[in-house]
Amino acid sequence: MKNVKAIIVGFGVVGKGVAKVLQTKRKELEHDYNAKVSVVAVCNSKGCVIDESGAGLDLEELVELADKKKFESHKKFQKMKGADAIESVKADILIEATPTDIKTGEPGTANFLAAFKSGKHVITSNKGPLAVNFQKLMGEAKRKNLEMRFEATVCGGMPVFSLVRNGLQLNKIKSVRGILNGTTNFILTKMLEDKVSFESALKEAQELGYAEADPTYDIEGIDAAAKVVILANALLGINASFKDVKVTGITKVTAEAMELANSQGFVIKLIGEISESGSLEVSPRLIPKVHPLNVKGSLNALQIDTDLAKEVFVVGRGAGQIETASAIVSDLVDIINRRF
Ligand code: HSE
Repeated sequence: MKNVKAIIVGFGVVGKGVAKVLQTKRKELEHDYNAKVSVVAVCNSKGCVIDESGAGLDLEELVELADKKKFESHKKFQKMKGADAIESVKADILIEATPTDIKTGEPGTANFLAAFKSGKHVITSNKGPLAVNFQKLMGEAKRKNLEMRFEATVCGGMPVFSLVRNGLQLNKIKSVRGILNGTTNFILTKMLEDKVSFESALKEAQELGYAEADPTYDIEGIDAAAKVVILANALLGINASFKDVKVTGITKVTAEAMELANSQGFVIKLIGEISESGSLEVSPRLIPKVHPLNVKGSLNALQIDTDLAKEVFVVGRGAGQIETASAIVSDLVDIINRRF
């Protein structure tokens, strides 16, 4: 049996989702992948619960406490920074699920660097560090011969990077475009189909857990732009960061404009695109109703244009607790298969 020790830093919606999935899929991990994953430290923004014995924490208890906002009452809780726990606790893999800060990339970047310094692979759902420092962090991982995986950062539970890595080998990715933000797609769908106002559709998206901690990231196109940057770096080898994306959000899209588009056979969607010339853009666009990118609700959709396979389309859930956890555990299993 492969014994894998992991640390979870960031214990909000995504971190708790990973903890839940690691419990519900424990048998499958053991039976199908011959792996036992023990979580030896869990940190939120206030501090960490660390299992010094290395046997693994009771994740059910931790999720319950965190749901009741009582994480800090755990008997093993200590005030400390995530980065300090990452460096000092003996483990193989960091699961980094702190919230995205698109301006500084922190605390994610510090957490990644602490992991690489102490020889840990990184799996993340946090777009900030990658949108700001993709090449630097990937370079650091490679220098240390460690994995840096980020399936959960783009389109949540919908496979993108693993699809390209495992199914489009030798293909040159020429351009990419799609719906990269579930919250705005949900809002636009609700406005058109249920005649709901922008504000109440946004409120519903927040209640359903789709929106970012700061929902202006969603509606101003910032979240989609961060994903464009990650796609550009990872799939097209473009050394881009957030400042290279031309961004327009959906705040000026009116119900009238959507009705008009609808009557002409189109829908308005927030599209993120990396063109063949290498320009990066997020903006509301008209999409024919019959086009495969016309997906509804919180769904994401991506068109990947390649030289060999030509157009490949993927549709899936770009947000949600268990959906995002699915991407993280898929990175986890892939690392276990390759490295343990
Ligand atoms: N707020 C994001 C979205 C979550 O709506 O797509 C996933 O990144």
